[in-house]
Amino acid sequence: MPAPSATPPIQAAAGHAVIVTENLRHSYGEGELRSQILHGLNFEVKAGEVTLLVGPSGSGKSTLLTLIGALRSVEEGSLQVLGRELHGASERDRVAIRRRIGFIFQSHNLVSSLTVLQNVQLLLQLNEPNPRKRTERACALLDAVGLSHRLHHYPDELSGGQRQRVAIARALAPEPELVLADEPTASLDSQSGQDVVELLGDLCRRRSSAVLLVTHDLRLLKDADRIWRIEDGRVKAWQPDATELAGAH
Ligand SMILES: Nc1ncnc2c1ncn2[C@@H]1O[C@H](COP(=O)(O)OP(=O)(O)O)[C@@H](O)[C@H]1O
Ligand SMILES: [Mg+2]
Repeated sequence: MPAPSATPPIQAAAGHAVIVTENLRHSYGEGELRSQILHGLNFEVKAGEVTLLVGPSGSGKSTLLTLIGALRSVEEGSLQVLGRELHGASERDRVAIRRRIGFIFQSHNLVSSLTVLQNVQLLLQLNEPNPRKRTERACALLDAVGLSHRLHHYPDELSGGQRQRVAIARALAPEPELVLADEPTASLDSQSGQDVVELLGDLCRRRSSAVLLVTHDLRLLKDADRIWRIEDGRVKAWQPDATELAGAH
């Protein structure tokens, strides 16, 4: 019988929960310096939906994304991601989960010695053996984020917003089941920010993938299927009121 992490991923059906937390807690520091950041979170993220996570600076949004992305160990409570419990998961299982997730984090982590096109093709090598198809797919995504005129440029030759768009194309290239994005529109102008969220929404509806997006950008509220707000270490379903939505236009 194959090891659990060798089981092929099952494409999630829309509406199926891809993230489920139960009483998830997290603290930083030891002894007197110990400070609890997440005080028992209970929430879900579903396939086929764009879910926003909002909340004040320092409320633990990035901490939560790194826990969900299996980049940090779960210490207390339960966190299931793509059907796997991460509390107590082995490093091997965590690596297997990470491969199924597209990350769009603020530090773009592009490879500076590779061109824009090569950066986007990089992760495709794992799941698309045909080099011509890899190039076609990378070009189509770079076109979708408005960068078809920058294919052969290097990251250093791009603006911050353009680098962010390369990072988005790269994260979407392997068609991940879950996309985790930390402030992906922070360095984009209003129109590009909306385009990016549309692109993410398109991916999740077409493939029944899930997108969890941390943002301060009120303009994105209206494009979300579901909004969670984190404050004082707890998370609540959030329905923006008319004034907040007015800021979204
Ligand atoms: N590696 C760390 N070590 C200690 N404290 C941290 C670490 N990372 C974040 N924190 C603290 O945890 C809290 C939540 O941070 P973070 O998750 O980055 O919040 P947000 O993304 O909502 O701004 C902050 O008070 C921050 O200073
Ligand atoms: Mg943050």
